[in-house]
Amino acid sequence: MNDAIRDKLIVALDLPSSAEARALVARLGGEVSFYKIGLELLFTGGLDLAQELKRSGKRVFLDMKLLDIGNTVERAVATAARLGVDFLTVHGHDRKTLDAAVKGRGKAPLKLLAVTVLTSLDAADLAEQGTTLQPGELVLKRARLAHAAGFDGVIASGQEAAAVRSATGREFLIVTPGIRLPGGAAGDQARITTPQHALADGADHLVVGRPINAACDPLEAARQFLSHIAQA
Ligand code: C5P
Repeated sequence: MNDAIRDKLIVALDLPSSAEARALVARLGGEVSFYKIGLELLFTGGLDLAQELKRSGKRVFLDMKLLDIGNTVERAVATAARLGVDFLTVHGHDRKTLDAAVKGRGKAPLKLLAVTVLTSLDAADLAEQGTTLQPGELVLKRARLAHAAGFDGVIASGQEAAAVRSATGREFLIVTPGIRLPGGAAGDQARITTPQHALADGADHLVVGRPINAACDPLEAARQFLSHIAQA
């Protein structure tokens, strides 16, 4: 497996403690080079682990899904940028938040990704929030907004990857959660796709959580995902 293929797989360290996350990283060894640290680990040493992973040569995606007034987002992004991580998420609901994040990042190499519409939401969930748009339409609208604001990319499901790619061009990153092998359990995800589908439609990185972090044999599960990525 070459490094370019490995770099496409981001394993979500959604685990109850940093100790369990470290054990998973040790078990996956050199097979996985990119990790996502999200809200679950944030309250149990996740930021220390993020820096530790960076020191050991891994790439790190901090999935903090920031959303607040502009001043707070700007300052939070500025402090996050000092951690030296690779990717950070901000909710892409409005231009003020996006602009504040870009300002806070300044000249740091941190890549900013806008969360478009959570992959656990479907049209009925959006209707409940008061929007009449379909998930795909809202993803595209928010992807265009993030692109115009100077974000590096978006989080979108594989179902929207092709439309986002054609609207935003080759350089814009598309990072795709809700990834399952054919027949895999969806869990609480509403808009799932296979690795082949997401990559063929233009995704740059695939985020995989439970199919690897809750597998009986996470190393074997990661290898299966890598082999599907290699075939795509
Ligand atoms: O376990 P599973 O593969 O469903 O995990 C997906 C990961 O991607 C989770 O860590 C979740 O927080 C994250 N995510 C998502 N949908 C988004 C943004 C992030 O599922 N829109």
